[in-house]
Amino acid sequence: MHDDAATADVPTQARRRRAFAVISHPDAGKSTLTEALALHTHAIGEAGHINGKAGRRRTVSDWMDMEQTRGISVTSASLQLTYRDTVLNLLDTPGHADFSEDTYRVLAAVDAAVMLIDAAKGLEPQTMKLFAVCKHRGIPIITVVNKWDRPGRDPLELMDEIAERTGLTPTPLTWPVGIAGDFRGVVDRATGEYVRYTHTAGGARIAPEERFTPEQAAAREGAAWESALEEASLLDATGADHDQESFRAGRTTPVLFASAVRNFGVHALLDALVELAPPPGPRETVVGATRALDGPFSAFVFKMQAGMNTAHHDRLAFIRVVSGVFERGMVVSCARTGKPFATKYAQQAFGRDRTVVDVAYPGDVVGLVNAADLHVGDTLHLGPVVQYPPLPTFAPEHFAVVRAKDAGRYKQFRRGIAQLTAEGVVQVLRSDLRGEQAPVLAAVGPMQFEVAEHRMASEFNAPVRLEHLSYTTARATTQVWRDKLNGQPGVEVLERHDGELLALFPDKWRVNSVVRALPDVELIPLVAT
Ligand code: G4P
Repeated sequence: MHDDAATADVPTQARRRRAFAVISHPDAGKSTLTEALALHTHAIGEAGHINGKAGRRRTVSDWMDMEQTRGISVTSASLQLTYRDTVLNLLDTPGHADFSEDTYRVLAAVDAAVMLIDAAKGLEPQTMKLFAVCKHRGIPIITVVNKWDRPGRDPLELMDEIAERTGLTPTPLTWPVGIAGDFRGVVDRATGEYVRYTHTAGGARIAPEERFTPEQAAAREGAAWESALEEASLLDATGADHDQESFRAGRTTPVLFASAVRNFGVHALLDALVELAPPPGPRETVVGATRALDGPFSAFVFKMQAGMNTAHHDRLAFIRVVSGVFERGMVVSCARTGKPFATKYAQQAFGRDRTVVDVAYPGDVVGLVNAADLHVGDTLHLGPVVQYPPLPTFAPEHFAVVRAKDAGRYKQFRRGIAQLTAEGVVQVLRSDLRGEQAPVLAAVGPMQFEVAEHRMASEFNAPVRLEHLSYTTARATTQVWRDKLNGQPGVEVLERHDGELLALFPDKWRVNSVVRALPDVELIPLVAT
């Protein structure tokens, strides 16, 4: 099926690709920025933010709200953009904190992240949480300070905050001319030039950018230019200059100033993604080896999506290609089951739009239709078996016993629970004591329960009743401690679907008192965020 020419081309194709995600707190402007990126790469003709929310056209990325209000699924897909002959794969992440686990899995599939912060608010809780995940995974981060068109903080103060709270040294690539709320343009720190932005009506179109020498800039902008230069010279003095190696190693973060809604600074971000963000590289397998980029095809499932088409109950598995060439129609193997999987229906999906994908390379995302047998985290491959590490799970903080409302529907109930587990919608915990009829659902955020409840009724025809438990904290433990922990008041040990034993506690204080009572007990925090 592979022609040699296509395979030989893989390293070149991989070098042309960037897989990245935007991490931000809700409302920082992620949807607006996504649209602006689509606009600047000519994926769409006009941005949707024309008349404010009421009159706003549905945009390429804000379809998630709709899914959410319908309670069907809150999903991530990817948007493929081409800029300067580079293919940018923007992986979408759910905005709501309750779906952090989804976001976490998406971050396992990217090579870089854009940390988007609101100029007035600085680093917000969700940004910090996602940042910690990126840091943990060694994902290089480009920072964008957004909404510079609105009154906000002092830029140097924002740099201090980034340095203090993330531990990354900010290395601004541009520096704003005009205080927040009076955004005129930026100093391009690499050339010293002034890039002036012009506002277009409603900000719906690409904003014109003009370049001026420092002398011209001084004549045009006067005091605003002088103070920008003064601040930039402070940066020069502290050595806050971009260094590719430090960036790739996660020690520094290049910073850009932007106004997504006005389309200011978007080209600079695209340039940074092309020039600085790392292309896909080989990924470590469970046995610590790697498969060469131009080896046989391999990929892993980072996201399952169901119910986009409620009539067909279709299931999409989103894979990230790791090595080789994906060609639609080829039959690959699932490493977990050893079973073949036919890829006749392969798509790219973003929002409601889907296009057929015929060929894909490392760093690309492909949506596979009819993927009911695949699980999130599965590896697909051609040639010798290869298996990538399971996707990390988040520490659950909400727990509820789930039962079928109608005992006669137990078969449907089991099928539904198995499917939700495979997709990673919720974690499922069991114990002999509670029995198969009443497993415990574990979630990072309570909205995951709502999605599970809704889907059990509408998709699997097995309405359920949830009984919330008062646990808030889980720790991994081992078989030898199972009985002793179960003997502690308020503590319960259950087995998760992946075989991990979890001890549940009402709160952290209880964890501490158990540790005092059983000094040698093995209690391992689930995810360091
Ligand atoms: P999110 O996806 O991160 O949640 O944020 P989203 O893009 O939806 O933006 C949140 C709000 O911030 C929107 O305003 C949006 O227009 C505004 N916004 C985004 N980028 C900028 C920017 O660069 N400057 C300014 N001034 N505002 C920005 P909204 O009032 O909620 O909606 P709308 O009525 O503007 O559509």
